[in-house]
Amino acid sequence: MAVLFKMPVVLGFFVGLMMLGLASSAEFHELFQPGWANDHFIYEGELLKLKLDNFSGAGFASKSRYLFGKVSMQIKLVEGDSAGTVTAYYMSSEGPYHNEFDFEFLGNTTGEPYLLQTNVYVNGVGNREQRMNLWFDPTKDFHSYTLLWNQRQVVFLVDETPIRVHTNMEHKGIPFPKDQAMGVYSSIWNADDWATQGGLVKTDWSHAPFVASYKGFEIDACECPVSVTADEIAKKCSSSAEKRFWWDEPTMSELSLHQSHQLVWVRANHLVYDYCTDTARFPIKPVECEHHRH
Ligand SMILES: *[C@@H]1O[C@H](CO)[C@@H](O)[C@H](O)[C@H]1NC(C)=O
Ligand SMILES: *[C@@H]1O[C@H](CO)[C@@H](O)[C@H](O)[C@H]1NC(C)=O
Repeated sequence: MAVLFKMPVVLGFFVGLMMLGLASSAEFHELFQPGWANDHFIYEGELLKLKLDNFSGAGFASKSRYLFGKVSMQIKLVEGDSAGTVTAYYMSSEGPYHNEFDFEFLGNTTGEPYLLQTNVYVNGVGNREQRMNLWFDPTKDFHSYTLLWNQRQVVFLVDETPIRVHTNMEHKGIPFPKDQAMGVYSSIWNADDWATQGGLVKTDWSHAPFVASYKGFEIDACECPVSVTADEIAKKCSSSAEKRFWWDEPTMSELSLHQSHQLVWVRANHLVYDYCTDTARFPIKPVECEHHRH
């Protein structure tokens, strides 16, 4: 009796712990390591700060690579004058035919709004820029920036609000990134040749150092050991009869109705540039844009 009673309690305890584990964020060093300019990293308890000055920017990378799942971090962008600087947060595979999902935060002069540029590279080809302003000042507080990636879609989210969806349209003959494991990266650097007002506004180094702050690192994704072949990775990270990844659940294959409404709102009120409607750059509409529902 006592044993029968105890079993579910103990199980429940472990299930509870596992679920907590999924939702909780990790220490920077558990998941990431500095990629360059170690001396431009500042650790303050749970906070990580990356510094850009006239000597160097800085960047970090995940220790592992992943195929599908969810990656999230909280970022507070450079306060005050951030003109000329770019803070990037992205996932990328390696090689000439790499895939990449980008958040790029383009700085601005004091009081002027940051722009968030997103991009998707498939098989080494990008040119899928979208630009938006945000519905809050991203330099005042931490906000979460998330990539959700599964076999059906790549979703970019800001504080849980979807801002961009890249849908799998392989049935139309359009390649979708689903064969290459990706690392997770972030960096801050000087891009004053293009970032702010098209490169007109240069970085004012008298306002250096420019500091981006991070916390709340979360990776809930299928981890891929470097030593493992692409075929084995594809097998390991595909849901099957024995194992089912939560991101392969039917509810994750497209946005919920609520999320679709949120995306429509974001696009109507905050989108300032979409490659899909740039006829000067693309006289022939990029093929995936023909099928966009948004
Ligand atoms: C900077 O501010 C100007 C003026 O408000 C705006 O036109 C521009 O889009 C903003 N962002 C960047 C990155 O230039
Ligand atoms: C970097 O900027 C500082 C502060 O403006 C200045 O004193 C220093 O000379 C600069 N160094 C270089 C290498 O440009």
